[in-house]
Amino acid sequence: MAAPLFAHDAITTKLTWTQEISRLVYRHCAGCHRESGAAFSLTTYDDARPWAKAIRDEVLGRRMPPWGPVKGVGEFHGDPSLSLPEIDLFVAWVEGGAPEGDPALLPSRLPNPLPASPALVARQKLEVSGEITLTGAISILGLRPHGLADRQSLEAWATKPNGEIERLIWLKDSRVAWPRDYRLRRPVRLPRGTRIHVTAPAGASLVLLAE
Ligand code: HEC
Repeated sequence: MAAPLFAHDAITTKLTWTQEISRLVYRHCAGCHRESGAAFSLTTYDDARPWAKAIRDEVLGRRMPPWGPVKGVGEFHGDPSLSLPEIDLFVAWVEGGAPEGDPALLPSRLPNPLPASPALVARQKLEVSGEITLTGAISILGLRPHGLADRQSLEAWATKPNGEIERLIWLKDSRVAWPRDYRLRRPVRLPRGTRIHVTAPAGASLVLLAE
């Protein structure tokens, strides 16, 4: 008799779909991954189980949930990214055999679909590609990437007159399907004489939305 190619996944974790993982998926993924959502459904165990290894890879690579800015550069409102402990939960569940658990422990209802992110209203808009020097002080509220194709990247930083460097945003793997304004948690105030640098592919730019 031929040996099976893969042994049946042994369950080596106490984490379960019905307890921890469904709650993470509902909070971070089901806004898009649901019936008639932006992507295939991950709302039930039967939906999610065949995707288990892909889920592990996508969350480890920080490709899901899609967001854009690299963590640690700029702080933005509505950042849906998983924390490291949350990523660890997904990984441990998948590598422990992705067990279902007791259906009685499932959360009672699905959250609402993700609201569209509202465009930011700003008095001043300053479009930068390459480098500019500010002729007056500004207070940046948010950043709007412009003209990026899929999978392109953009990076922006400011050099203040005293030499201090403020990194504004580092966008990786841009997605045309999800245009958005990145609203800063705190306005970034930059004095006159600050140089703003934007490295972006030809034809792309960054719009600074300022007070
Ligand atoms: C803003 C919407 C959105 C959110 C939120 C989101 N996804 Fe996705 N996801 C998509 C779309 C759309 C696709 C289809 C492929 C693509 O366009 O990248 C996808 C694809 C995937 C894939 C398949 C990747 C492959 O192998 O091709 C996996 C797995 C996945 N998502 C897991 C997740 C998990 C886990 C979360 C939450 C932690 C999540 N997604 C959150 C929209 C989203």
